[in-house]
Amino acid sequence: MIVDVGKVFKNKKVMITGGLGFIGSTLANRLVGHASEIMLVDSLLPDYGGNLFNITGIESRVKVNISDVRDESSMLYLVKGHDYIFNLAGTLSHIDSMKDPYTDLEINCKSQLTILEACRKNNPEVKIVFSGTRGQYGKAQYLPVDEKHPMCPTDVNGINNMAGEWYHILYNNVYGIRATSLRLTNTYGPRHQMKHSKQGYLNWFVRLAMEGMEIPIYGDGAQRRDFNYVDDVVDALLAAAATDETNGQVYNVGSGAPISVLDSLKAVIKIAKRGSYKVIPFPEEKKKIEIGDYFADHSKLSKATGWAPKMGFEEGLKKTVGFYENNKKYYW
Ligand SMILES: NC(=O)c1ccc[n+]([C@@H]2O[C@H](COP(=O)([O-])OP(=O)(O)OC[C@H]3O[C@@H](n4cnc5c(N)ncnc54)[C@H](O)[C@@H]3O)[C@@H](O)[C@H]2O)c1
Repeated sequence: MIVDVGKVFKNKKVMITGGLGFIGSTLANRLVGHASEIMLVDSLLPDYGGNLFNITGIESRVKVNISDVRDESSMLYLVKGHDYIFNLAGTLSHIDSMKDPYTDLEINCKSQLTILEACRKNNPEVKIVFSGTRGQYGKAQYLPVDEKHPMCPTDVNGINNMAGEWYHILYNNVYGIRATSLRLTNTYGPRHQMKHSKQGYLNWFVRLAMEGMEIPIYGDGAQRRDFNYVDDVVDALLAAAATDETNGQVYNVGSGAPISVLDSLKAVIKIAKRGSYKVIPFPEEKKKIEIGDYFADHSKLSKATGWAPKMGFEEGLKKTVGFYENNKKYYW
């Protein structure tokens, strides 16, 4: 099934936590003109990816609520009346989760319970799509990684996301609150924050290349990863929301086209027409939580929803570089 967004979300009320962030705002831009109400809930905490520029052009057609998902009374009120909740508020930094494990715990784990409890009390009819992460698997024991792969996270962020995801599945199974989780892999594209490298390295490579920098690459860069363009991730979120078969299930989202870190960097340099690279040893703190090769088997999601990634890597990079060339001042 390919989701007819106009049909499925017509006159529906949608809430997006983390709605001013990279993926949330791209989803909002897609839903505008279809859903009858789109509410973006975001705390706009400085170090994360929230940015009001991300909703330029649609600001009059979405409701923005600057709230923190850790706040129980706000969540109790905000979840009311929505047909769908895309639960995307989260912290992404693996390193920060090791330095400040309690913030990661509160946002990625405890808040998920707060949102689900609010739904149980005030909106049990809702369908929720949670964004999990490949980090839940830790080091791959086999490739491609499917959903039956053991979950052995190498950092605090992976553990908290694992628990956050399973609260959703539990509330689906015990209370009948329809919920599903998509375990996202590295996502890139327009609207990603470009202030630091802690939320994924591909967009950071784009920034450094656009500045003509010599880009450090750790180890030999041979680790293979898969990347999804943000529009493909939005398609996957919408497909998961629209399909009843996904209730109580977890799914990988991947590209099916793994590429080494070094080759991805070479592609960025080629598309940006600037920059160079230099291989350096892994910093010790990063080496300890490095997962090596990872790429996902996303056939379970394809089978359930008909979803498949569409964007080619170089084409996605061209769109990304083009976006930041035009909008650099809002992200740098
Ligand atoms: N981007 C990726 O490569 C990737 C990979 C795996 C999983 N994910 C998951 O997808 C989700 C969205 O990621 P993204 O890339 O759009 O990141 P992002 O940082 O751009 O967006 C997350 C948003 O959540 C908001 N937020 C954070 N803490 C909050 C809080 N306590 N209350 C309210 N809002 C809060 C931030 O302000 C930000 O706008 C995250 O949950 C992340 O774990 C992303």
